[in-house]
Amino acid sequence: MKAVRVPKERAEEVRKLAEKKGVKDRRRRILAAGDFVEIPIIDGSEDLFSDYEIVEQVNPVFSSKMDLKSELKGIVPEEFIPSNYKILGDILMVKLKEEARKYSRTIGEALLKLNPRCKAVWCDYGRVGMLRKPRVELIAGNGSETLHRENGCVFKLDVSKVMFSLGNQAERIRVAKMVDEGEIVVDMFAGIGYFSIPIAIHSRAERIYSIEINPDSYRYLIENIGLNNVRNVIPILGDSMFVTPEKVADRVVMGHIYCQDFLPAAVRAIDGKGVIHYHESTPEAVIERPIRRVEKACSRAGRRCRILNFKKVKNYSPGVYHVVVDVEVY
Ligand SMILES: C[S@@+](CC[C@H](N)C(=O)[O-])C[C@H]1O[C@@H](n2cnc3c(N)ncnc32)[C@H](O)[C@@H]1O
Repeated sequence: MKAVRVPKERAEEVRKLAEKKGVKDRRRRILAAGDFVEIPIIDGSEDLFSDYEIVEQVNPVFSSKMDLKSELKGIVPEEFIPSNYKILGDILMVKLKEEARKYSRTIGEALLKLNPRCKAVWCDYGRVGMLRKPRVELIAGNGSETLHRENGCVFKLDVSKVMFSLGNQAERIRVAKMVDEGEIVVDMFAGIGYFSIPIAIHSRAERIYSIEINPDSYRYLIENIGLNNVRNVIPILGDSMFVTPEKVADRVVMGHIYCQDFLPAAVRAIDGKGVIHYHESTPEAVIERPIRRVEKACSRAGRRCRILNFKKVKNYSPGVYHVVVDVEVY
């Protein structure tokens, strides 16, 4: 499934062009990925966009309203019909309003009917705690384990036990492509290998220490190392507050939105000079808070730092952003 990938400021121009030519794929949503936007187009219409970059859309978000509306007409009140959903491997994930819960089975069955390659529909109620465990409920079909492909990597996971944020896809490949040959990387919140696996596949890093505290995620991390046939990922089961190796790293990935307390351990992990990718969920009113926190942690450790980049990864909730700071520590 193809899409035209353009910088945000050119999105409207391409959307209008696709509409005018009648080749905008209405089944899929326009997606923002970092500073870029993907406009879905009907396969075979690529030649009309020869001045633009065409990509294969790996994780499309489907617009469900039209099909679902006719499927559920007179059965489910229109305001409870979800307007979109996501697909992880062969599992469909959908968010429903609290009041729509009594229709969840009916909505799930309809979604399954419209997506016959999916084996199950899970309702997504968010994530809890530091382990970011998913709060989900099976609403149609069977099965919770799947193989999801993105950025040339394959991830095995159980959607009822571990999270997978499709919205972080662009960030995962961005970081992987920054890693230079021979680097030692520490991934302090490795999960099932969200960052470690793309880094191993898309860079020539010497070694990646992948620390994960949750045994369920750790089990999938081990499986994903095998499935992707990567040999330089060293999995470590434990709390990165205590087991992060010191003075080894050229790069530290802090892919957790509530990890400010772990900044001292990240700074200690750097060997002389290196880069930290620090994530945080921050309200717009204090949007620069992550930068201040990083600077403070470096200064407390007697280290100097230089902010290389600061960007939004995605909208987290109304008025709150998931952001990342790239900082060089020396
Ligand atoms: C939410 S995931 C990261 C998601 C990732 N940023 C992405 O690209 O989607 C964070 C992971 O950190 C793990 N974690 C939380 N606290 C930890 C700790 N103290 N030490 C190691 N891992 C931890 C959680 O179990 C979870 O697997």
